[in-house]
Amino acid sequence: MCGIVGHIGTGDSADILLEGLKRLEYRGYDSSGIALLNGDSIFVEKAVGKLKNLTDKMAQHTVSGTSGIGHTRWATHGGVTHLNAHPHTSSDNVVVVHNGIIENYRELRETLSAQGYHFVSDTDSEVIGHLVVEKLKTYDKPAALLRAVLEELDGAYALAIITKDFPDCLLVARNASPLAIGVGEDACFVASDAMAMSEQTRRVIYLKDNDYAIIRQEGAEIYDGDHNLVNREEVIVAASPGLVSKGGYRHFMEKEIHEQPDAITHTLAAMTDDAGALTAGLTDEQLQQIKGIVFLAAGTSNYAGQVARYWIERLAGVPVNVEVASEYRYRAPVSSHLTHAIAISQSGESLDTLMAMRYAQEQGLSTIGLVNVDHSTIAREADAILPTRAGPEIGVASTKAFIAQLTALLALAIAIGRANGALSPDEASALHEEMKSLPSMVGKTFSLFDELRPVAHDLARVSSCLFLGRDSLFPIALEGALKLKELSYVHAEGFAAGEMKHGPIALIEDGLPVISLLGSDALAPKVISNLKEAQARGATIILFAAESVADDVDFATHTCRLPDCGEYLMPFITTLPMQILAYLTASEKGTDVDQPRNLAKSVTVE
Ligand code: G6P
Repeated sequence: MCGIVGHIGTGDSADILLEGLKRLEYRGYDSSGIALLNGDSIFVEKAVGKLKNLTDKMAQHTVSGTSGIGHTRWATHGGVTHLNAHPHTSSDNVVVVHNGIIENYRELRETLSAQGYHFVSDTDSEVIGHLVVEKLKTYDKPAALLRAVLEELDGAYALAIITKDFPDCLLVARNASPLAIGVGEDACFVASDAMAMSEQTRRVIYLKDNDYAIIRQEGAEIYDGDHNLVNREEVIVAASPGLVSKGGYRHFMEKEIHEQPDAITHTLAAMTDDAGALTAGLTDEQLQQIKGIVFLAAGTSNYAGQVARYWIERLAGVPVNVEVASEYRYRAPVSSHLTHAIAISQSGESLDTLMAMRYAQEQGLSTIGLVNVDHSTIAREADAILPTRAGPEIGVASTKAFIAQLTALLALAIAIGRANGALSPDEASALHEEMKSLPSMVGKTFSLFDELRPVAHDLARVSSCLFLGRDSLFPIALEGALKLKELSYVHAEGFAAGEMKHGPIALIEDGLPVISLLGSDALAPKVISNLKEAQARGATIILFAAESVADDVDFATHTCRLPDCGEYLMPFITTLPMQILAYLTASEKGTDVDQPRNLAKSVTVE
């Protein structure tokens, strides 16, 4: 959620921080701000709204600094206002940026208020600055000071602090929220995501939970949660600045939709060899040990898990649960029939998913992280990693990462089935061969940008619509509804087509759009009956169907014909039109496609 950056050393802090924030804006864009330290003065500027507002304000100043911190906010405590924007200043001496939630902020606020500290914001973060000022009365060394402050804080945080008392240092700490240190030639950096520092350095040190550090121009002094000075491994990250431009497209989302054939190709190559054997994460022996799986994930990643349940149970005969990550650890889940927990996360940082995975680990399950970001927290903490190779995904609404997750999960389902004998080698190879046709098949759906424009034109004018699918297309209906609502703010719900008659059919009134997914499988006649029931009650059927069954529905208002393919490929082929439809509807309405209101790409709070 919020993103933080910091810089100390040669170079102009203001430019470096603004550049870093640009790369972090996906984490939140309610407001942003920076603070610069130059000798004896601290300069702070903030702006509500997109980063551009801050950049415009900064263009009017001629300030510079040799150290500084910056923040892009996704509001948790307190509304979207200038006063609630970070950085937060205390006593004209201490400035703080914070990502996460300070759970005991009420008690701290009461104590600090009683001590005479004046609060100007509604945020939990403001207590940190005042606490630093208070502790400066006792501590005159930065590490001791920071330790004393952290001892008072409960909750999740990544934070960075500057103070005139220690002008040659940035004070940083992490607990549950991500934080990485970048090591440059004559400067050091800090950021919520290494990508924010990619223009400055590729040498990165990831802090572990409860680590805190004093960062100077020449390097970082890192302490673990037990206050021991530690050496954390420095890694070279691959994030290249060139990868995050729009490349001629109007939006990152449009670009990322078009990158999906590559996302599939690269993920399949990372997961399997040419014959389909799994090359990532797990050996055959380990695959045979998988007797029951729980998927832990949030949002779109959760829907990838829901699709994979159909695949793994069918192809490998292994029982699968799919859990909403934020619910899982609070309801005493029974895991005795399970052996593995697979955390699915594009970012590898969603706090709900990370905490659920840690809980599964405590329950004795082997953990696997299916992540798109190599050095993310989930990747580092899981027992094994299955990689998706979608590349950096900037659009807040997930597109290519979802397709890459489906690719990795189908490859996994086939590999488990092959390893445990549920699939013969020939059956497994045939499925793998089918998967190789996915990139070109997915590429063919790009023509839908033109075809679906009139449908989007109509959808942009309704207040509500339904998405229906059955079997492995049911989660795609859920994903279609999520995409439409998050991008275009049109109310949308996804249902299993067969479930309509048990309640949702009451919603149908004249002209309600029902977006319907239809594969050429054994369930097709049943889905068609479900659609007929809806149409008979006045629904407008917008059909997305495999070519060979499309004509079996002669009552649709619009029929979008999709390439015929095996049942395991159909969730891929139906995903693209869902994304394109949501994209076009949002464009038609003029909403902010890449940064929809109230959302953040990576949610690192509970
Ligand atoms: C946020 C995003 C969603 C995403 C979810 C899970 O809510 O807005 O698009 O699906 O987080 O993210 P993850 O990085 O764990 O896949």
